[in-house]
Order: sequence, then structure tokens, then C-alpha cells
Amino acid sequence: GDGGGDDEAAANYPEESVSIIVPFSAGGPTDTVTRLIAEPMAEALGQQVLVENVEGAGGTVAGSEAADADPDGYTVLMHHIGMSTAPTLYEDLPYDPLTDFETVGLVTEVPMTIIARSDFEPETMEDLITYLQENADSVNLANAGVGAASQLCGLLLQDALGVELNEVPYDGTGPAMTELVGGQVDLMCDQTTNTTNQINAGEVKAYAVTTPDRIDALPDVPTAIESGLDLEVSVWHGLYVPAETPEEIVTTLTEALQEALTNQTVIDEMAALGTAPVAEDQATPEAHTTKLEEQIDLWAGLISPGR
Ligand code: MLT
Repeated sequence: GDGGGDDEAAANYPEESVSIIVPFSAGGPTDTVTRLIAEPMAEALGQQVLVENVEGAGGTVAGSEAADADPDGYTVLMHHIGMSTAPTLYEDLPYDPLTDFETVGLVTEVPMTIIARSDFEPETMEDLITYLQENADSVNLANAGVGAASQLCGLLLQDALGVELNEVPYDGTGPAMTELVGGQVDLMCDQTTNTTNQINAGEVKAYAVTTPDRIDALPDVPTAIESGLDLEVSVWHGLYVPAETPEEIVTTLTEALQEALTNQTVIDEMAALGTAPVAEDQATPEAHTTKLEEQIDLWAGLISPGR
């Protein structure tokens, strides 16, 4: 019967190309990380891995699409910390991150940077804090919509300073970065996978990193904590498949992910962008589910809808 067919499909998986859905624009940080691991995952799977950008509503359009896909392992979702903030930020989120998906494994945890257009007036993080407190009304803060990592970081920054800036949403921080470099917006908090090259090229101004310690890729950029700002966040990413995907298929994907994360090119390219693959024991469904549960609880206590 059907069960037998499913077992056979699971045993033979993958028999055709696998798509990874990225919830934000091409060229942005989530896309960059996904494309880095896609090729070594394809080698491990023996099939092509296609990357598909499904933009909109801070990553939740892609979340819905992936939740509704067939649980056959051919549609995989790459998502990040937004998977854990969306249940708090959206009262009518059309999927439940914990019950509508199987976790495949964590991928990376990316530091964020507070950056501005290169001619923005404040020079240091201390200057920026004063400037934002005095000029909040006139500052435009770019983000990738409600549910994006950039939006979360912006919330934490505004809450820490007790200010409200003008938020300007994009479909991803890829296009937001283009506008920041062009001077159309003032400020953004975004992942090092999208900002390291622009910071080092002087195309944007960097004030702080959001990690407890400075990072090797940007040694001259202080931590937010050094300037007395209580702001710490990093952007964990993981791979998901729809709920009820056969365990055998999930295991095949987890093993392909683990191979990709030990690939030297992946390690080197991530390092150049301020990040690293997670440890191998984190690239598992168990570790990923634990992280997702903890983070849903954490953010439910720290952020609220409409903010
Ligand atoms: C992106 O890929 O554009 C980002 O991850 C958006 C964000 O979450 O800030």
C-alpha cells in the first residue's frame, strides 16, 4: 500500500533535485549562508540543491510555503532566529514552528553589526547613543520586516535606548544594504555575513558588534557592551522540513548538512564573513529543536506584538 511506497521513496531519497527555500532576498545574509552550504550538500546528496528565494512578511511567507509543502524531503527551509520571534510578533502566524516542521540541524550563529551610511554624523557607538536619544524622530532604521533578525536587533536597540526610530522595511537586508550604501536610509543592525565586506571597504560606518566579545573578522569594531549598551544577539540558522517527513529522509539531510559544515571552503568563507559552522553535535535535529524551544520562550518574554 501507500506505506510501502513511502518507505521505498525514503530509502531511495533523493532521486531528484532538492530545493532550499530562503525567506529573504537573494544576495542577503541568509541567502549567502545557504548558497555556501548548497554545493557541498549537493555533493553529499548526489543531487542538485537549488536555492529559491521566497520573500515577504519578515520571512513568514516562506515559513507558510514550507509548512504546506509535501513532506518528502524535496522542499527544505533555511530559517533563522525569526522562527522563534514570529510566534510572539504575529498573533495570527499561519504555522507553528514546533509542530509544523521537523528540524534537520543548526547551521551557524552569526554576529550582528550596528552600521550606518558612511556620512552619518555620529562617529562612535557613544556618539550614536547620544545622537539617537536626541534625534530619534529623524533617523531611518532599515530592516527586513517584522520577524527579521534586523528587526529584532533594531527593537532591542530602541528598547535599550528608550527611543522610537522610523523603521523602513525591505524584503531582505541585501536590498536594504544597497540603499544604506546609497545613503537613502541611515542605520541598520545586520548580520556580519552581509556587512563585513562593506565595513572593510568603508562603504558603511560600523559602530558595534552585538556579540559578548569582538570578532576576528572585524577586530577594530567594539562590542555594544563596551559602550555600556546592554545589547547582545546573534542569529542562529537551521534547516527544516515539513512535519511528518520520514525520519530516514531527515537523517539523510542532517548527514549532508554535517558534511557541508566540515567542508574547508565553507569554514574559510564563513570565517571571512565573521561566522563559523556550528559544532557537529549542534547540526542535529535534537540540538536544533532544543534551541528553537528555548528561543521561542526567551523572545516571548522580551518582545511584544506591534513592536
Ligand atoms: C536576509 O537574509 O535578508 C536577512 O536574514 C534578513 C534579516 O533577518 O534581517
